[in-house]
Amino acid sequence: MNQKKRIRRSCLLIGLASCIGLNVYATDAESLLLEKFQAGHYSRKGADSCLMCHRKSDTVRALFQGVHGDMSGSRGPMGQLQCESCHGPQGKHKGKNEPMIAFGDNGNVSAELQDSVCLSCHQDGERTAWHGSMHQQEKLSCVSCHTVHAAADPVLNRNSEVAVCTGCHTEQKLDMAKRSAHPMQWGQMACSDCHAPHGSLSEASLKQVSVNDSCFECHAEKRGPFLWEHQPVTDNCLSCHTPHGSVNDTMLERRAPMLCQSCHASDGHASRGHGDDNAFSGGQSCLNCHSQIHGSNHPAGQALQR
Ligand code: HEC
Ligand code: HEC
Ligand code: HEC
Ligand code: HEC
Ligand code: HEC
Ligand code: HEC
Ligand code: HEC
Ligand code: HEC
Ligand code: HEC
Ligand code: HEC
Repeated sequence: MNQKKRIRRSCLLIGLASCIGLNVYATDAESLLLEKFQAGHYSRKGADSCLMCHRKSDTVRALFQGVHGDMSGSRGPMGQLQCESCHGPQGKHKGKNEPMIAFGDNGNVSAELQDSVCLSCHQDGERTAWHGSMHQQEKLSCVSCHTVHAAADPVLNRNSEVAVCTGCHTEQKLDMAKRSAHPMQWGQMACSDCHAPHGSLSEASLKQVSVNDSCFECHAEKRGPFLWEHQPVTDNCLSCHTPHGSVNDTMLERRAPMLCQSCHASDGHASRGHGDDNAFSGGQSCLNCHSQIHGSNHPAGQALQR
């Protein structure tokens, strides 16, 4: 075993040991696995010893079509301990007699422990916010989203990412099918256009520091500066819009005049907009006159009407 392999192996061992050490409720499988790691009983022939029994599984074979089955590189599992880089040392495993690390919701070890396997190679800048993120706290693991035994991981493809996310996020799935929504249904947009899947320091794990900065990435014309600003626009686009989808036109939380009256009910004529079909209630309602709702650059546009 070369030096690099030894470092990887001991990282993983420390990861596992501290995970299990901290966890009073370590499962039997976890305790057994820790013993195996400490003994370091790796197989002699790597993948070949596993394939003796597992070659018939389509799932297992699919690994070799993806990046983790690449036999040429030295940084990937195949250049290292092969299958055992992820599943741990074989020891006496021949089936149910002695477990291997099994991943996923029905895996035999905690999410934290599963993650320590992936992070032993992927602890880089992209994953710095993972610990403490909502997903990590909710005990999701890397493989809640990622599939490694596959030619291509669906969550990395913009056309299939949304389906992976909405498999759990049913509310957003309903939102994006509403009458007015960001075009996420057909792959034009993906959740990761706005969200950092591995967590971020912003609210709701946004990629940008604020809601408005997220929106300006694509709707730059709404940034201004405007001669006459409309305060809620500079404060937060979500004062009026929903981020994912709405039953109202242009993804509005509510329609005018109710939308406007939620803030302006007591300012003179702003309380009108009921009853007869006039400029206040018909057509675009308040927007019939206040058409520059995001701000105006007209010298006389202080009422956002031009
Ligand atoms: C990069 C880490 C990694 C490597 C390398 C790896 N696996 Fe897996 N294995 C996983 C994960 C994660 C799963 C859960 C399913 C998934 O995400 O694709 C899994 C699932 C499995 C399963 C259960 C799936 C089933 O239903 O059949 C078996 C068996 C298995 N792996 C064997 C192997 C063998 C044999 C090798 C080497 C040829 C190997 N694995 C290499 C991570 C890995
Ligand atoms: C002598 C045959 C044999 C060898 C060699 C073998 N396995 Fe297994 N393995 C099995 C059997 C049998 C099962 C149990 C399948 C079941 O539970 O349905 C199993 C289960 C597993 C599972 C758990 C799947 C799950 O969903 O719980 C993983 C992961 C796994 N093996 C990985 C490996 C790896 C990696 C190697 C090589 C280091 C290996 N196996 C070598 C026979 C073998
Ligand atoms: C032995 C090291 C090692 C382990 C363990 C490992 N990976 Fe990787 N992974 C790699 C390498 C090398 C690549 C190739 C891309 C690169 O250069 O980063 C890669 C690529 C990826 C990619 C990008 C795939 C693509 O198609 O571009 C994802 C996602 C990923 N790994 C997830 C995981 C997950 C999830 C686990 C745990 C189940 C895991 N990895 C375990 C080494 C590893
Ligand atoms: C909530 C779903 C989700 C979870 C959980 C998740 N990922 Fe990802 N991951 C993604 C998506 C989506 C992408 C592609 C878009 C991007 O990179 O922003 C990605 C990209 C990657 C990549 C390739 C690009 C890069 O960032 O280098 C790697 C490697 C990776 N993830 C590893 C991991 C590891 C390791 C974990 C666990 C600590 C993990 N992921 C957990 C969704 C997830
Ligand atoms: C296995 C289920 C699962 C998958 C898959 C999943 N999530 Fe989540 N996600 C959760 C849970 C549970 C929470 C916490 C409760 C909630 O807000 O619904 C959460 C929370 C979030 C939050 C709020 C975070 C915060 O800091 O407030 C965002 C944003 C999010 N997920 C985006 C995504 C994206 C984007 C994807 C796909 C790349 C994804 N999720 C995939 C289960 C999942
Ligand atoms: C156009 C940008 C954008 C896209 C695309 C997007 N989101 Fe969001 N999402 C946001 C913003 C902004 C918030 C913050 C809402 C708040 O602060 O009230 C948010 C909040 C969330 C939350 C936290 C729950 C809540 O309502 O506060 C979840 C979960 C979530 N998004 C999941 C998703 C999923 C899943 C997808 C893909 C189907 C997705 N988002 C696509 C911008 C976006
Ligand atoms: C990644 C790019 C992107 C980001 C980021 C983004 N949008 Fe959009 N937005 C779009 C696209 C694309 C459309 C659809 C344009 C079309 O259909 O002509 C759209 C449409 C809209 C519409 C009009 C919807 C309709 O039915 O006419 C509103 C309102 C909107 N976005 C608000 C926001 C808000 C608020 C944010 C920040 C939370 C945001 N957008 C972030 C790309 C983006
Ligand atoms: C005071 C309420 C309000 C706020 C706050 C607001 N909007 Fe709007 N927005 C509207 C209304 C009302 C419409 C519909 C205008 C129409 O039909 O003429 C609209 C339409 C849009 C549209 C689609 C039509 C167009 O003008 O391109 C986009 C995109 C949009 N808003 C983005 C944003 C962004 C980005 C922010 C934050 C910087 C924001 N909005 C803040 C009320 C608001
Ligand atoms: C979230 C609260 C909120 C919503 C919703 C909202 N506004 Fe405003 N609006 C404000 C605030 C705050 C100001 C600044 C008041 C000030 O400076 O005295 C303002 C200013 C204005 C002004 C300029 C008033 C002036 O000072 O001359 C007009 C016109 C206006 N809003 C119309 C609308 C219309 C029309 C809608 C609906 C499409 C709307 N607003 C929705 C909070 C809101
Ligand atoms: C027929 C055109 C018209 C319609 C419809 C209209 N406004 Fe106005 N609004 C104006 C004009 C013009 C001003 C500027 C008045 C001034 O400068 O004295 C104004 C001023 C305002 C102001 C600034 C404070 C004030 O009273 O001077 C607010 C707030 C406002 N409108 C809200 C609304 C809301 C909310 C609606 C919908 C219920 C609405 N307006 C519908 C023409 C209209």
